Amino acid sequence: MSAADGDGAHTLESLEALAVDAATEAGGLILAMLENADVHVATKSSSVDVVTNADRAAESAIIERITRVRSDDAVLGEEGGHSVSGGSGITWVIDPIDGTTNFVYRIPAACVSVAATVEPGDERWMHIPNSPLWHGAPDAPVRRTIAGAIFNPFTNELYRARAGAGASRNGEQLRMNDSAELATALIGTGFGYTAERRREQAEMLLKLLPSIRDIRRLGSAAYDLCLLAQGSLDGYYERGIQEWDFAAGVLIAAEAGARIIGASQDALPSSRLLIAGNSAIADALQSVVGSLASD
Ligand code: IPD
Ligand code: CA
Repeated sequence: MSAADGDGAHTLESLEALAVDAATEAGGLILAMLENADVHVATKSSSVDVVTNADRAAESAIIERITRVRSDDAVLGEEGGHSVSGGSGITWVIDPIDGTTNFVYRIPAACVSVAATVEPGDERWMHIPNSPLWHGAPDAPVRRTIAGAIFNPFTNELYRARAGAGASRNGEQLRMNDSAELATALIGTGFGYTAERRREQAEMLLKLLPSIRDIRRLGSAAYDLCLLAQGSLDGYYERGIQEWDFAAGVLIAAEAGARIIGASQDALPSSRLLIAGNSAIADALQSVVGSLASD
């Protein structure tokens, strides 16, 4: 922590506040673009993976907002936007629109996700309370999220959290459903954009679906994790999501009581597999679908 950062608690609060500002500002921007019929759609990794000028505009606005006040931080964004760290140890991981397909179809489940993350071994940030560990690709360095915000501009829902201080939605403290068991659990998941990835995901679903209450595929991993945090889902798992999809959501879910785990007991959550739920649900999901998630 540099002298300019002040004391740790203050820094953490200001990181959360910056995540909130950046997410709400970008949310307003993308909604205005949609309302003004100013959204143009293109494709990315496959013909079904959409991206819009609103994704790019929101990402630029978020990066500009963050680097204006924290020029020593690095930024990693889904649409390729990044800035190189000046050495604070913080990397902002951002998804300008998580749920771009919903956004394009005007389904009100699309969010801006902004997370402040650090390396767990970085002594400058060790004083910050424990928070979920994860990595993007299974061989990427481990990181942890210490503050974050997710904003759904369609519903005006603002979810926010900082390590050790709980999670809230529009100011209301969140607590996940701790009573559910797998057989009666409502489980969220999602699907990727390539045929091969979807075949694996279908295989997992085939194994899981007979053993649970039902499945929900809402189209935004960030929103799924917020719904888990507020008790609207009992569990969540997904193979193939990227760090920008889940970096803020894992902290919001964890601060609401969720356990966030990977494909096996010795694997951290990553793009290989991320599982979230109360302890019983998380363990049960891991034992049903974990072995189907190869490296
Ligand atoms: C997608 C959403 C979706 C999940 C996909 C993600 P995007 O993000 O989070 O729910 O199933 O894996 O790629 O493409 O809308 O930013
Ligand atoms: Ca995303």
